[in-house]
Amino acid sequence: MVKVAPSILAADFARLAADCRRVLAPGHNWLHFDVMDGVFVPNISVGLPVLACLKKALPQAVYDVHLMIVEPGAYVQDFARAGADTITFHLEANSPVQKTLAAIRALGCKAGLSLRPGTAAEEIFPLLDEADMVLVMSVEPGFGGQSFMPEAPARIAAIKAEGLRRHLPLLIEVDGGINAQTGPLCAQAGAHILVAGNSVFRADDPYAAVCKLKEG
Ligand code: DX5
Ligand code: ZN
Repeated sequence: MVKVAPSILAADFARLAADCRRVLAPGHNWLHFDVMDGVFVPNISVGLPVLACLKKALPQAVYDVHLMIVEPGAYVQDFARAGADTITFHLEANSPVQKTLAAIRALGCKAGLSLRPGTAAEEIFPLLDEADMVLVMSVEPGFGGQSFMPEAPARIAAIKAEGLRRHLPLLIEVDGGINAQTGPLCAQAGAHILVAGNSVFRADDPYAAVCKLKEG
């Protein structure tokens, strides 16, 4: 069964812990934490102190940190200390990929690698042994509320097939424009984790939206 990781980017930051509490329950405990530096993507979101505060308020959550920053390698230790459980960074960023994946694992976190929609899925294949998770972007990173790119399920399926061929225990996550229509397409293509911002936090009943996505 798929997991859903509600993206805090669509929450009300003035009442972040309360909004997040509404979507958490036993078995639904992931939160997707988007970090943007205004350089890797043309937007700025939140960072270390917000993660540390949220972790203190909601220690039961699994913090799935998505770094959309140019130098992820310089910050992985700080994010692990602030409470990250998974740390995902982009293949297109400036840090050495293998070294950064190894550093994340050495910190006791799951290491995730993401790719922009324009990067060929095959570019990630040589690195799959060193990653615990691949985050397939189904929108251009930087903003919530964009439309799902229909080529994403085929990209998920290609990465999934390569992982299976090599018997790798790889998690596949998809992020961007996920809702009750697009989520099942990604789950059928092999995604294990569906990131959803607007379709969860802007729903009348965010928890029901999580359950619906999870059920497909
Ligand atoms: C976009 C972020 C996403 C974003 C998804 O760059 O990585 O996690 O919050 O938002 P929705 O689900 O609204 O497309
Ligand atoms: Zn994200």
